[in-house]
Amino acid sequence: MKKSKKTLIGIAALGIASLALAGCSGDRTGGGDDGETAGGTVGVAMPTQQSERWIADGDNVKTQLEELGYKVDLQYANDDIPTQVSQIENMISSGAEALIIASIDGTTLTDVLQQAADQDIPVIAYDRLINGTENVDYYTTFDNYEVGVQQATSLLTGLGILDESGEETGEEGPFNVELFAGSPDDNNAKFFWDGAIDTLQPYLDAGTIEVPSGQTEFEQAAILRWLPETAQTRMEDILTVIGDTQLDGVLSPYDGLSIGIISALTSGGYAASDLPVVTGQDAEVGSVKSIIAGEQYSTIFKDTRLLAEQAVTMVDSVLQGDEPEVNDTETYDNGVKVVPSFLLASTIVTVDDYEEILVDSDYYTEDDLK
Ligand code: BGC
Repeated sequence: MKKSKKTLIGIAALGIASLALAGCSGDRTGGGDDGETAGGTVGVAMPTQQSERWIADGDNVKTQLEELGYKVDLQYANDDIPTQVSQIENMISSGAEALIIASIDGTTLTDVLQQAADQDIPVIAYDRLINGTENVDYYTTFDNYEVGVQQATSLLTGLGILDESGEETGEEGPFNVELFAGSPDDNNAKFFWDGAIDTLQPYLDAGTIEVPSGQTEFEQAAILRWLPETAQTRMEDILTVIGDTQLDGVLSPYDGLSIGIISALTSGGYAASDLPVVTGQDAEVGSVKSIIAGEQYSTIFKDTRLLAEQAVTMVDSVLQGDEPEVNDTETYDNGVKVVPSFLLASTIVTVDDYEEILVDSDYYTEDDLK
């Protein structure tokens, strides 16, 4: 952020000498017609507006890029893969100088990213890894395995198996828990699942936790495209299969799915005040309200302002001809290469700490949550 402002001030103050310098330091920037803008257009491809988190991501990335003087072509693809591919093609043909992409299906962008590479357009994978191509330069996301660990940990705390400090209470159950996973074409979904299952496995092995439906495989639990209505239907089907067995918990990897799951539970006879422990992710407004109302138990807060800042810093560095900072060069193998990544930390949120985590940090106002 600072760098490009400095570059602009330098250009204004030092005239020709600085122009020559700017020319050396990054020829993809400084392309504004009037010398007023830091650079050209950055294409930002987001998956869907059906979930608040992606709207916040898009807004944050756009605002922060504009603050640096870039123009922004922000597109949402309504979770439709061909739409996303053609949006990215359009960004390339209209002269985008860099791309920030949150993919729908991480394996479907190989051809369009070859077009980007042919034109020397750098690509940052945003939140979700892009698989099966060498043409993705950097990746920024949260520590996705840790998100899964946090989801399972909050489930264990909600059930009373762990106490607030994460110590075992000695509670042996057995507790009846059903398991949900995210979209199988989203690289993150398996990371969330693995983090959660590794955390739950000792309790499954010991019989402290049982899964009445018997559906314990990722493929059985996965919800294509993260659709709330698919999760609702699967929960309804499970309730039919398990009959009178009372559930104590549901591992849900995303707030939208939690809403579908809770609706299936309430229509299936659970009182809103006496629901199983249901987890989530993204701290979306509807789910935080549900947590405050005592329905959903927890969510995972991923500060999209920080993720946007990271992506914007990466793009700006690359366009300035610098190497962006990364903090993980091992975890995210996309099948062709390990993509250098910057991982951020996420936080468990419950009714006890939502104010401190979400309101005091100005992510939401108190009014947003009324
Ligand atoms: C994101 C999650 C989100 C999910 C559904 C994942 O790729 O990392 O934060 O809950 O997509 O939108």
